[in-house]
Amino acid sequence: MQGGAGVGRAVVVGVVAWMLAMSACGGELAPDVKAGRRAQGAIATLRMRLRQRLQAALAEGGPSAAVSVCATEAPMLRDVVERDTGVRLGRASLRRRNPEPSAPPWVADWIAAQGERPVAGVTGLVETHAGAVRVLEPIGVEPVCVMCHGARPGDSLPAEAVTMDPAVAAALGQHYPADAATGYAVGDLRGAFWAEADY
Ligand code: HEC
Repeated sequence: MQGGAGVGRAVVVGVVAWMLAMSACGGELAPDVKAGRRAQGAIATLRMRLRQRLQAALAEGGPSAAVSVCATEAPMLRDVVERDTGVRLGRASLRRRNPEPSAPPWVADWIAAQGERPVAGVTGLVETHAGAVRVLEPIGVEPVCVMCHGARPGDSLPAEAVTMDPAVAAALGQHYPADAATGYAVGDLRGAFWAEADY
């Protein structure tokens, strides 16, 4: 397997294994491998900070108060990771709560190609393109998520769907009048973290 700039879409599947192989061999890592690590690290950091903040906000004030915390702090947490790492990154979804910032076209294409489906079996992607490494990691719906991404009260959905508390639905309505990110069930594909690191 070779490093360097020419890794295209065709070998995407092999890239993760290739990155691991590179690290096992020791020595100086190729610039694109380093950039891939930075992109993956930035996603891991954002994922962890969002989860920690969500859990703390839920513990402090319950789900309706946590909606306001997420509304103001989720975009800030993203901005901080982007500033600190130099990696462009964000979350994307077919049905968004907050449409800003919009995802780059390659992310939007991937999201559209997945469609509405279970998260099981969805793999992410790592590829190089025009001097940058692109990383995409799927996001699945967990039990904690349906508190704020479940069915709206009054929606007719399958019996197993979890309906949000009316207070949560009201808080969401205040911040996001055009909220499209409801009606999810545990195990659904919710969207993806994406990152782009230049090398
Ligand atoms: C307390 C309510 C709450 C909970 C619980 C919650 N979210 Fe969200 N979620 C929000 C809010 C509010 C936003 C919009 C944040 C913003 O303005 O950037 C959001 C945005 C998102 C986005 C970005 C795309 C979009 O639609 O704007 C994803 C992806 C997401 N949530 C996934 C999850 C997942 C996965 C879980 C469970 C681990 C979860 N959420 C739990 C409130 C919640």
